[in-house]
Amino acid sequence: MALKVVILAAGKGTRMRSKLPKVLQPLAQKALLQHVIDTAQQLHCDEVINVIGHGAESVKLHVTGDNLVFAMQEQQLGTGHAVVMANDFYSDEDTVLILYGDVPLTAKKTLEDLLSLVDERHPIALLTIILEDSSGYGRIVRDQHHSVQSIVEQKDATLDQLLIKEVNTGIMAVKGGQLKSWLSALGNHNAQGEYYLTDIIAMAVNEGYSVPTTQPTNEMEVLGVNDKSQLQSLERKYQRTLANVLMEQGATLIDANRLDIRGIVTVGQDVLIDANVIFEGRVVLGENVEIGAHCVLKNVTIADNTIIHPFSHLEGSVVGKDCVVGPYARLRPGTELAAHAKIGNFVETKKAKIGSGSKINHLSYVGDTIMGTGVNIGAGTITCNYDGVNKYQTIIGDNVFIGSDSQLVAPVTIGAGATIGAGSTITKDACADELTLSRSKQLTLKGWSKPVKQTK
Ligand code: UD1
Ligand code: CA
Repeated sequence: MALKVVILAAGKGTRMRSKLPKVLQPLAQKALLQHVIDTAQQLHCDEVINVIGHGAESVKLHVTGDNLVFAMQEQQLGTGHAVVMANDFYSDEDTVLILYGDVPLTAKKTLEDLLSLVDERHPIALLTIILEDSSGYGRIVRDQHHSVQSIVEQKDATLDQLLIKEVNTGIMAVKGGQLKSWLSALGNHNAQGEYYLTDIIAMAVNEGYSVPTTQPTNEMEVLGVNDKSQLQSLERKYQRTLANVLMEQGATLIDANRLDIRGIVTVGQDVLIDANVIFEGRVVLGENVEIGAHCVLKNVTIADNTIIHPFSHLEGSVVGKDCVVGPYARLRPGTELAAHAKIGNFVETKKAKIGSGSKINHLSYVGDTIMGTGVNIGAGTITCNYDGVNKYQTIIGDNVFIGSDSQLVAPVTIGAGATIGAGSTITKDACADELTLSRSKQLTLKGWSKPVKQTK
């Protein structure tokens, strides 16, 4: 017996008005379908069967995961028909969990609760929810003993049934053998002329089975996405729950509604995050880290007590303890700051190892560089690392002082303790502990007179 997850993802999503298939639309920078696949993986299922149709080729290309298989549904003839397309991938003994490519946020715990209801005597279990406004959903019809009898779709419901507030989320768990036999008996004589998956409930009841149900803890878990407005409203709800998790871990958020997490963030104690910060990929923040307003951090690790001032952009970087970065700093991939380093405003770094206590405080570009400790880089210093074809290294020893407005033309090495005079263009290695400068001599032309405007 194995657990197979079937994800219905063939729909077009016309209301998205997008070239991108609906299930590839992004929520927190991850495709809707990918959220569902990731949840399936957390359940340690044996196979994830994606029923695809619209945009099938691009859907296949853009999702990843273990044990993924794809079943084509050429024509969308209804949810029941869609599950039939997955028939070859499960056996009678398997438990089949049916999920939806456009319902991205169902919690693992909720699905485990649902799966725990399925056994020999209960071959089918449903995830339902009570909604104040149940319009559009299939209604759960129960008898006087509160036992589930059937699901009626909105378009097929009687006036009385329309008043029912318990609705079908669409998510269900079914034993493979029964699922196959019930699917084979489905018809499409209903208001939409579709093969309704929901009709298998009445079949189960007719065979004498009782149908257990469970509910999610949070309504957000079963919300589907059909248009851009629902997409953004789910994004905000999801972002708020991610922000809540950070606060539960002790982070101080100046405004929990103005934080965006598009990946995985871990925080140490007493982290402070100001307004309008965006985290992408994997971000790790140590204790007492402070992130200023309007910063974007992607795949970054920041050690304890470091402050990132506002409007800084950090990507693929590792920042040590007690550093100060920004405002307006740009750390590009391959930047590594050792403890106590300082990167000031309008400084760009790339593939640069900056030793402890070294400072690049103003208006500089430092790329393809290995820098020692205690270095001071003057304002406007540029490592000229690119000749238009190849990139070259700059090596700067410990305690070097580079005067402002200098260019270090790589490959070049500045020996430890060296001083470079301001305004120098350094094309050859500079000796340790010496002053090196390349600068034309200053001269004054005595008695020179300013040109005078000629009168016509
Ligand atoms: C379905 C349920 C309804 C439930 C609601 C919850 C049925 C008949 N009705 O209605 O009881 O309250 O979901 O949101 O199941 N899909 C395919 N192939 C198809 C048809 C659908 O892949 O042939 C996919 C769609 O892309 C979509 C999902 O299945 O992601 C649901 O289909 P949709 O037609 O939107 O179902 P609803 O009418 O919303
Ligand atoms: Ca429909």
